[in-house]
Amino acid sequence: MIRPLLVDDLPWIVLQENIIFGTSLGEEHYQTLFRLGSLFGYVSDGVERTGAVLCSQNGEHVQIENLFVLPIARRQGLATALLTQLIQECDTRSIQFISLEVSKTNAVAKQLYESLGFDGIKHIPNYYPDGSDAVFMVHERRSQ
Ligand SMILES: CC(C)(COP(=O)(O)OP(=O)(O)OC[C@H]1O[C@@H](n2cnc3c(N)ncnc32)[C@H](O)[C@@H]1OP(=O)(O)O)[C@@H](O)C(=O)NCCC(=O)NCCS
Repeated sequence: MIRPLLVDDLPWIVLQENIIFGTSLGEEHYQTLFRLGSLFGYVSDGVERTGAVLCSQNGEHVQIENLFVLPIARRQGLATALLTQLIQECDTRSIQFISLEVSKTNAVAKQLYESLGFDGIKHIPNYYPDGSDAVFMVHERRSQ
């Protein structure tokens, strides 16, 4: 089941980000954005949570902060379902474009985003703390 993100999900998300990516913007940061109403997202949840997509909205622009699926639940279409739900929500919010940064070396994620209509439009050198590069990807919405 894919459901909207709740504030109670944030500690679990921060824990998983630290395990999967070795870093997180932190619970306090996310809680502040959530309280301000600019953070939203979706969680795949059944017996237990298995994945999440987290975004921030600034006017007509949505930035994907993070997307992950637990290793045990990968390759079952969950990331696709999370992103599809997000794109539909952006349509209802009249969002003009959705953007994200993904590691240049993360071929799996890049392929996933491309399959859902994201285009890599810019290369960002030294984007990550370890000095590695990112690709800036954008999903342009149809004019409503
Ligand atoms: C990237 C990630 C979110 C994909 O989650 P997922 O639920 O396994 O993805 P899906 O099952 O929806 O796969 C969708 C498509 O992505 C691509 N893909 C996913 N996993 C893949 C793999 N291991 N190898 C090749 N392609 C893969 C395929 O095109 C796949 O479609 P297909 O199964 O019909 O071939 C997951 O691997 C993950 O959490 N990785 C670590 C965190 C990360 O890199 N997040 C992205 C940060 S920008």
